[in-house]
Amino acid sequence: MSTPTPVMRLRALEREDLPFVHGLSNDSGIMSYWFEEPYESLVELQEIFARHVHDNRERRFTIDCAGERAGLVELVEIDYIHRNAEFQIIVAPAFQGRGLAARATAAALDYAFGVLNLHKVYLVVDVDNARAVRAYERTGFVVEGELREEYFASGRYHDAYRMAVLQREHLGRTVDGPR
Ligand SMILES: CC(C)(COP(=O)(O)OP(=O)(O)OC[C@H]1O[C@@H](n2cnc3c(N)ncnc32)[C@H](O)[C@@H]1OP(=O)(O)O)[C@@H](O)C(=O)NCCC(=O)NCCS
Repeated sequence: MSTPTPVMRLRALEREDLPFVHGLSNDSGIMSYWFEEPYESLVELQEIFARHVHDNRERRFTIDCAGERAGLVELVEIDYIHRNAEFQIIVAPAFQGRGLAARATAAALDYAFGVLNLHKVYLVVDVDNARAVRAYERTGFVVEGELREEYFASGRYHDAYRMAVLQREHLGRTVDGPR
């Protein structure tokens, strides 16, 4: 039985959060599931942050648990014609296994559909990333297709699922089912 996490909220990513992001983005165990190289200097992150501060195609949030940084969720590639966006999440190792992923994902979907009025949120996840797939299923994502040998990590190609959820599906539900 996992320990429940007390209070969780999403807040906009701030410059002060970058050392925390830096720690996550240099963790190979985490970044292989983000299909990215675990190599990013703090200076590079700070420059990217400054360049993207006014970028309306993304919303980056820190998962805040009772004042502690517990992870990140992002809506990126926001498309205002097709009204869709890609979703990404990291829960920091110290906060994993407490059901935080599903709650943070649901909160990000509330924002995507209830604030930004998006139509669809999609993601790409390693077929072997069972924890992530479970959290996404709990929040209403369904598999739309399987992508063969989609990305390279840890010395081999990996298959991935593309999963998505629609606004009308999300607005009528909470984590695990209908409101
Ligand atoms: C994937 C990740 C976000 C999950 O975060 P988390 O907060 O630890 O996940 P949860 O505690 O909510 O667990 C998710 C579910 O997976 C289940 N689970 C845990 N280990 C599992 C396993 N080995 N196999 C199957 N299910 C598992 C949990 O029981 C839980 O299901 P439940 O809510 O029905 O009990 C986190 O591990 C992470 O950030 N990993 C690295 C980055 C990453 O993979 N991001 C996603 C990229 S698409």
